[in-house]
Amino acid sequence: MNRMPVIIVGAFLAFFLSWVGLVATPYAQIGRAKPDIDDITKDQSPPPLPGTSIQGSAVFASNGCVYCHSQQVRGGNSSDIGSGGADLERGWGARRTVARDYMHDRMAYFGAVRNGPDLSNIGARQPSVDWHYQHLYQPAVVSPGSIMPPFRFLFEKRRIAGQPSADAVKLLPPDLPEPGWEVVPTNEAKLLVEYLLSLKRSTYPLPEAPEEKPPQ
Ligand code: HEC
Repeated sequence: MNRMPVIIVGAFLAFFLSWVGLVATPYAQIGRAKPDIDDITKDQSPPPLPGTSIQGSAVFASNGCVYCHSQQVRGGNSSDIGSGGADLERGWGARRTVARDYMHDRMAYFGAVRNGPDLSNIGARQPSVDWHYQHLYQPAVVSPGSIMPPFRFLFEKRRIAGQPSADAVKLLPPDLPEPGWEVVPTNEAKLLVEYLLSLKRSTYPLPEAPEEKPPQ
């Protein structure tokens, strides 16, 4: 008996059904997400990202930040909405993150490992540019006991010519540069920190993800 037609149709169906399930259905569900517009204030949720966000996220990607940091806040037990969860308890967000939170991103860095805290809302939790520069340069000094590697190659140490630069990093001992020298962020560091400050997911409301209360 010639089984060739059955095999061909079977193989076609296997690929076609996978495509429907893994590509077409998700695209139909979330592929054309639009921001939620507030009736009164006309504010967009999620808000548009700053123009440099794509370059900043490329620095984030190329330095492997995603190997230690996630960008997704988990909510409470979904069968018991409002119960809160460990991520909320840690102060990583006021609600879980949902697909729409990532609609402006070219690439979403969800991450799978949490050696460090979740960064979905780091722009709201830590809005100080100075802190971010210090922390990238000397993580273990700013956060005692930190295992985060220093990213000193994102900075430049140079001789002070005349006046010290306005953007010289305010370093803490023992990493102070010698007298007459200063440490300044490179363009990459500036883009990265601008990107980190723009991460404020779940600080704006979305109807599909109401604010949750952390467990008491
Ligand atoms: C080897 C793992 C590792 C890598 C890689 C890493 N981090 Fe971290 N990060 C940590 C740990 C652990 C902490 C918590 C201690 C601390 O604050 O330093 C942390 C903390 C942070 C914080 C402060 C979070 C908070 O809630 O206070 C920021 C911001 C941060 N990292 C950004 C970055 C960026 C940007 C990169 C990439 C350039 C990066 N990290 C790469 C491990 C890592």
